[in-house]
Amino acid sequence: MKTAICPGSFDPVTIGHLDIIGRARKIFDHVIVAVMVNPKKNTLFTAEERVTLIQKCIGNMDDVEVVCFDGLLADYARIRSADAIVKGLRALSDFEYEFQQALTNKKLNPQLETMFLITRSENMFLSSSIVKQIAGFGGDISNFVPACILEDIKERIYASKG
Ligand code: PNS
Repeated sequence: MKTAICPGSFDPVTIGHLDIIGRARKIFDHVIVAVMVNPKKNTLFTAEERVTLIQKCIGNMDDVEVVCFDGLLADYARIRSADAIVKGLRALSDFEYEFQQALTNKKLNPQLETMFLITRSENMFLSSSIVKQIAGFGGDISNFVPACILEDIKERIYASKG
């Protein structure tokens, strides 16, 4: 059985993330969506809330699990005997950061491969940060996040503004 980990901050999950998860499912038998805890990042949602939002979007799928992990991705991959990390690559601007992470993860866990799926052209510009910025200014984010979590995001953005 081949297992992939789709890691990220997912703060919040976007249709771009969900596209990558869906495409990873076609290649791997089991996909673990791992919400990684980054203590340096100020997030809109807690890690547990981000897990819940992703679960809300994908529903119950036998081949997908959503977890959160506070630690090194390379260690988590080892614990779960994962074969590969699968990430979306949007543009050249992503490359250097992703390249550094992939090389680091390979050093830390030589058994682990990193695979990049090129994002769909319509999602090239999309990121969680962009979604938060648009929502923060009262803009329409309905084309960027699944409808089922639209209100969760709006409510949290308004609450965070006080
Ligand atoms: O969605 P993001 O913020 O681009 O995801 C980055 C993430 C969470 C995949 C990355 O920061 C990560 O793997 N964090 C876990 C800690 C870790 O393993 N760091 C070393 C990798 S270079």
